[in-house]
Amino acid sequence: MKKRLYFGSNLKMYKNVHDTIAYLEQLQQLTADLNREKYTLFIIPSYTSHEQACKKINQSLIKLGAQNMCWEEQGQFTGEISPLMLQELGLELVELGHSERRHIFGESNEMLRRKVNASLSHGFTTLLCIGETGDEKDYGISDEILRIQLKTALLDVKEQDYGKLWIAYEPVWAIGINGRPATTDYAQEKHSVIRTALVELFGKQGNDIPILYGGSVNLDNAASLIVQPDIDGLFVGRSAWDAQNFNTLIRDAVMAYDTQPLV
Ligand code: PGA
Repeated sequence: MKKRLYFGSNLKMYKNVHDTIAYLEQLQQLTADLNREKYTLFIIPSYTSHEQACKKINQSLIKLGAQNMCWEEQGQFTGEISPLMLQELGLELVELGHSERRHIFGESNEMLRRKVNASLSHGFTTLLCIGETGDEKDYGISDEILRIQLKTALLDVKEQDYGKLWIAYEPVWAIGINGRPATTDYAQEKHSVIRTALVELFGKQGNDIPILYGGSVNLDNAASLIVQPDIDGLFVGRSAWDAQNFNTLIRDAVMAYDTQPLV
């Protein structure tokens, strides 16, 4: 059976409100004909754009998300954003544990466990990002790191919430302008490690949790990544920030996926 495919982007700290809305409207229009029974599209802009984006974008076409969230609903947490505030805006998705949150802002697996629980219990689709650093890869401990990140952050996830959980595998050494994309084989191998850990955690329902690959996804590698058995979607940075380019990337991937023989 063909699986649902996921395509999304985190806009990081780029694009003001005007540029974000123009980008989202263009992307919504370019991708209007894509069958949402088969494909999920999502964009995660800055907080300042959320209010307008939620008014102008149809989230059944493009889901909108936040780049981070506090585990508490309110309190003395200067600079943080509450799940209630994100609910009030009408967002459907929360991204947690992006490598920049972990490595620049010091988010730990334990903090992420609390955030994942808060996000799921407030009804958000929750995209947990995991990935090993270049050093961890060189030490040969990538699999252990991925398993620790997953098993710590997902410790308390309840069965009723499995359907709202997405995972993004983003090797830290592959992200951004200084990153180099993982080879397709390497990405598939790590996705398989993640799949095994999800099944250990959640039983056979772990097979249904989407695992997206991110880290220098571009027009050259999107098609070969999406056809891998354990890659369910692409989480794209730079190559998605131009709507035309992202649309082309999505269509290349969809075409590659749809034309491969069914096994
Ligand atoms: P990149 O970003 O595609 O620009 O490497 C990926 C990410 O940080 O999610």
